[in-house]
Amino acid sequence: MIGENQKSKIKNQQSKILHVGIIGSGTMGSGIAQVAATSGCKVKLYDTSQAALDKAKTALEKILNRLIEKERIDNVEKDRIQSNISYVDSLKDLANSNLTIEAIVENLDVKKKVFSELESYVVEDCIIASNTSSLSIASIAASLQKPERCVGIHFFNPAPLMKLVEVIPAIQTSEDVLQKSIEIISDWKKVVAVAKDTPGFIVNRVARPFYGESLRIYEEGIADFATIDWSLKTLGSFRMGPFELMDFIGNDVNYTVTETVFTAFYFDPRYKPAFTQKRFSEAGYLGRKSGKGYYDYDENGKIVGSLDVTSSAVERSLAESICNRVLVMLINEAADALFLNIASAEDIDNAMTKGVNYPKGLLAWADEKGMDWCVSELDELYNEYHEDRYRCSPLLRKMNKENKTFF
Ligand code: NAI
Repeated sequence: MIGENQKSKIKNQQSKILHVGIIGSGTMGSGIAQVAATSGCKVKLYDTSQAALDKAKTALEKILNRLIEKERIDNVEKDRIQSNISYVDSLKDLANSNLTIEAIVENLDVKKKVFSELESYVVEDCIIASNTSSLSIASIAASLQKPERCVGIHFFNPAPLMKLVEVIPAIQTSEDVLQKSIEIISDWKKVVAVAKDTPGFIVNRVARPFYGESLRIYEEGIADFATIDWSLKTLGSFRMGPFELMDFIGNDVNYTVTETVFTAFYFDPRYKPAFTQKRFSEAGYLGRKSGKGYYDYDENGKIVGSLDVTSSAVERSLAESICNRVLVMLINEAADALFLNIASAEDIDNAMTKGVNYPKGLLAWADEKGMDWCVSELDELYNEYHEDRYRCSPLLRKMNKENKTFF
């Protein structure tokens, strides 16, 4: 017989089970569902397309089987994760959710429609979140009767593998909703970085020069793709060079993010897209997925030929100047994000190491290089080009004057 104590314990445990509704079972939605289900949440995964739901279910089965093969999980764990997810074809089925995360097509009008319908079904205190990469959370929240329950919860692809999640409160979001969201995502064993509701949040803003400055260096004829990649990998310890990475992400996708950020920042020249990438995208040279991008790919998605540039072929001083130029532009972007209170110094550095696997946080890197180095490198670029793109962040200048470090 179960005693009163045990009964209340069970009840307590049951009431702690979180019901999570996920809208959209594509790349991101299905990954987020896996993360939540693995953490013990009861997940309802909804999509308007039955084919997308079937695909998500089959994909999860495959992923879990692979994890069994690698002895990372056993059959019991597989069953537990699978039984935590149900696949539903009506938004109404999400009615008992404590948290919903939307991961549908990146279109504000479609998202707004779904959000306002969803709000009519869910309970009063259900948090309604969006995984959007480029829309403002304020504009999505505005479609709700209770906009204070809306928040951005931005995962990175693939969601089960990438440690970082950006949590973005809109100006309407209540403190309680923000804190609960941070708590839930941390319980899912993710690293949370809280970001202001501004274009690109942290990662998609701060990372822009990695691509943009590298493209600019190429366009100026300073070096070819392989040399630029080699410089950043060998001297900067980045896992992938910018051109390899753009090919991996897809030149169409990467170009669109840059263009969206550029437009959203009222055409700040710092984020100006490059014609090279636009032309590659227009030509269908999308990268790995199309078999051709900055490099050629074989049927297994491997680069044809060697990427090794022997140091004798690359003058060390050329490689250093390429690496330093891209690095200082990244540092400038990170410092400016801190200057404008987009996130804390810790969160900015965590975002780049956990979200895009940078070898070091950019602000910690600035400390290592020294503020005087950062300021003089940027001033040198500015003096050479006289373009606003190379303006040094006022924060770097101030810290240099005051002899301060970020950490
Ligand atoms: P996807 O195209 O793989 O999946 C979208 C899914 O939403 C599809 O299965 C589609 O059938 C479904 N859908 C479309 N309209 C719907 C509606 N009205 N109701 C229910 N389901 C609907 O897209 P993906 O890549 O998963 O992106 C989803 C969201 O996540 C977008 O907002 C995107 O900006 C964001 N995001 C994407 C990342 C990526 O690397 N793919 C990374 C981080 C965020």
